Amino acid sequence: MKTEIVSAVRAGLAFSGSEADDPSQTGKTALVTAESSGGCAKATKLLRRGEVVALPTETVYGLAADALNPAAVAKIFEAKERPRFDPLIVHLPKREALDEIAIVESQLARDLIEKFWPGPLTIIFRKRDVVPDIVTAGLETVAVRISAHPVFCEVVSAVNRPLAAPSANRFGRVSPTTAQHVLDELNGRIPLIIDGGATEHGIESTIIRIVDGMIEVLRRGPITEEMLHPFGEVRECTPASTITAPGQLPTHYAPKTKLIVIQSLRDFVPPPGKRIGVVCMCPVAPVGRGGDLGPRSATAASDAPREIASFVALRHLSDNGNLRQAAANLFRVLRELDTENLDLIVAERMPEEGIGLAINDRLERAST
Ligand code: TXA
Ligand code: MG
Repeated sequence: MKTEIVSAVRAGLAFSGSEADDPSQTGKTALVTAESSGGCAKATKLLRRGEVVALPTETVYGLAADALNPAAVAKIFEAKERPRFDPLIVHLPKREALDEIAIVESQLARDLIEKFWPGPLTIIFRKRDVVPDIVTAGLETVAVRISAHPVFCEVVSAVNRPLAAPSANRFGRVSPTTAQHVLDELNGRIPLIIDGGATEHGIESTIIRIVDGMIEVLRRGPITEEMLHPFGEVRECTPASTITAPGQLPTHYAPKTKLIVIQSLRDFVPPPGKRIGVVCMCPVAPVGRGGDLGPRSATAASDAPREIASFVALRHLSDNGNLRQAAANLFRVLRELDTENLDLIVAERMPEEGIGLAINDRLERAST
């Protein structure tokens, strides 16, 4: 199957309604900007027809399909090569739709919804029969959120049905934070990608469930423990203690290149003769002669000898140590380093606070 990137202007032609230009008929993937006229309308039309469409959310790009149409949802699993035992997140058009698909048993859940929806918080509820088994992988529960992204909102509101949407990457790989990442992953497998620019948070939503009046975090994300704490006791469920779903398995979100996580570059002795790329928080700059590279941030150890020349690529996640910015850049940087033909990616741990915990969690999973 051949995939074409269509410019926003040409995409306008693709929305003429003629079958010859219809991406779901031609077997090509069209990539159009959200601003291009008719982009969201085309997405809506495809979704109503039981097709899949990649859409931006505030966390990462999602691959959406009508959650109440099992045949449409099956196309998500096919495109992603995702095992059927891994359940999907359902995105609602509005809060009122929650009671149609789930049973909300606690006031705590309602308080969290009031505070964090729309936004990057996914909550696990007991499901109603209307939710197909393929969405929940046969579980009695369903994961639900409302996206705050204007493009996603526009489309899900127009479809006016809940949309199942996992991250728009092949199973087990790093989530896409740009439309181009989606194209790289799902080229020729899906009819349409709406380009809404780079995503704001850059890592997937926080997933929680309410157990015995406590908030259990199943996946760390942009809604941090500190943000949840005012609402009730927060308990972290480590991957080892909860194999509720494959997304919580240790091996996930992985680049192709081997990655290790280290506490500090200061103590890192690079194995000789290897092409090594580095990910760290703060800016790094070439120092010394002949393009030798070495950190000039707090991680630099001026007193320690470093085999700095053996780092062939250096990437920082934030200009000023901002953890939110670091999260937004993480998956893009991992993808970039994956194209550098490296033997090893070395990632320096982020500070263990706020969204830094979620970043470290993704780095650990990428490294296993
Ligand atoms: O930010 C996000 O959450 C993105 C955007 C597109 O919304 N979506 C996303 O979906 O990350 P996905 O499928 O890549 O990750 C969803 C995770 C998976 O680890 C899945 O196993 C878990 O949610 N999950 C889904 N339903 C569940 C359930 N009923 N109980 C426990 N975990 C569940
Ligand atoms: Mg995913």
